Amino acid sequence: MSNRNSLYKLVLIGDSGVGKTNLLTRFCRNEFNIGSKMTIGVEFASKTMEIENTTIKAQVWDTAGQEKYRAITNTFYRGAKGALLVYSVTERQSFVNLKNWLTELRENSPKDITIMLIGNKIDLADNREVLTHEGTNFAEENNLNFIETSAKDATNVEYAFLSILTDIF
Ligand code: GTP
Repeated sequence: MSNRNSLYKLVLIGDSGVGKTNLLTRFCRNEFNIGSKMTIGVEFASKTMEIENTTIKAQVWDTAGQEKYRAITNTFYRGAKGALLVYSVTERQSFVNLKNWLTELRENSPKDITIMLIGNKIDLADNREVLTHEGTNFAEENNLNFIETSAKDATNVEYAFLSILTDIF
């Protein structure tokens, strides 16, 4: 008999427009929305999956990247086992702002939280502003796992979630 918890809470954080909501919908419902609306407040979705032959439920929380629409951080971070820290490879400022997100995360989240850095929108190769090795370096300096994804064409999305959940498990 396994005595592990079966519910794993993950939070998505990062600047407005980097693709947090679409990573959530791609992972939980295999959906993508062009020109999706900005998140206001908090929403979450769940997905049941198998990790090492055990059925678990991933509960993924998404909040607005824009300060004025953000909900109370306490509730958002409470009980989170993992955080997906997202920037867009097409927007340098979202990469520059990662250090602020890390500060917020470390001030508000459980001490033992596992963090994965995600560089999203790699399908937009012609608009790339942040190179892969810059992401790798930032991740190494800050002790994070790192992966580049596209919520649009689904590249590495399942892998990213599976990887952080396997780490936590
Ligand atoms: P906030 O809710 O404001 O924090 O934004 P968000 O981080 O949740 O971004 P959202 O998922 O709403 O995506 C913003 C825009 O980027 C939308 O127009 C999406 O369709 C688009 N988008 C998201 N992910 C990708 C991707 O991987 N590739 C491309 N080409 N567009 C993407």
